[in-house]
Amino acid sequence: MTIIAPSLLSSDTFQLEKQLQEIKSAGANYLHVDVMDGHYVSNINFGPKYVKDLRPHTDLTLDCHVMAEQPEAIIDSLMEAGADIITFHPETTRHAYRLIEHIHEQGKKAGIAFDPSVAIAAYRDLLPLADQVLIMTVTPGFGGQKFIPDMLEKVQEVTELKAQNYYGYDIEVDGGINDKTGSQCKKSGANVLVAGSYVFAGSIKENIAQLK
Ligand code: DX5
Ligand code: ZN
Repeated sequence: MTIIAPSLLSSDTFQLEKQLQEIKSAGANYLHVDVMDGHYVSNINFGPKYVKDLRPHTDLTLDCHVMAEQPEAIIDSLMEAGADIITFHPETTRHAYRLIEHIHEQGKKAGIAFDPSVAIAAYRDLLPLADQVLIMTVTPGFGGQKFIPDMLEKVQEVTELKAQNYYGYDIEVDGGINDKTGSQCKKSGANVLVAGSYVFAGSIKENIAQLK
């Protein structure tokens, strides 16, 4: 089964209640919440307050994608606010291994995210611990960018490592995902599709059905 994770970055804040209902009834599984700090990426949007406000309005899994330097400074607040999965970029912190353990100690799932310029080999030792591996298929920071086809090889790489070593992580892709690129990613082994601009343009219901 493919897990669909609409990215709220492309949602309409003032139509959110209605859009949440559409997302849920279309059969999406996660809500992908992009947390940015204006340093690691040159954009700022959702934070712990948003996650806290969102939590009572949905029973979908809150999939927080932290694009921030020193993520350890904000991760505790996100977990307290009700995040279910915390995914961070390992190059943004000095002790990524310890941070995954810390997330697990709070009873949450931990993901590691790979920027297009970061090799899997650089953080190979984190793979056995991860609940989710996020392969960025655009440079992080903004919605609506073009999918980078070369990243399919990276998806295959983590798919093979998972099979060879019996690792338990989900493989998530994020950036430029639509019906076409989503199906390429699925063929390469991805089982979690994040999609922002594609889901929120036109009919949310039809777009989610296409991704599934
Ligand atoms: C980009 C974010 C994505 C973004 C994807 O840095 O991590 O989650 O919302 O948007 P689309 O699907 O429009 O590429
Ligand atoms: Zn994201």
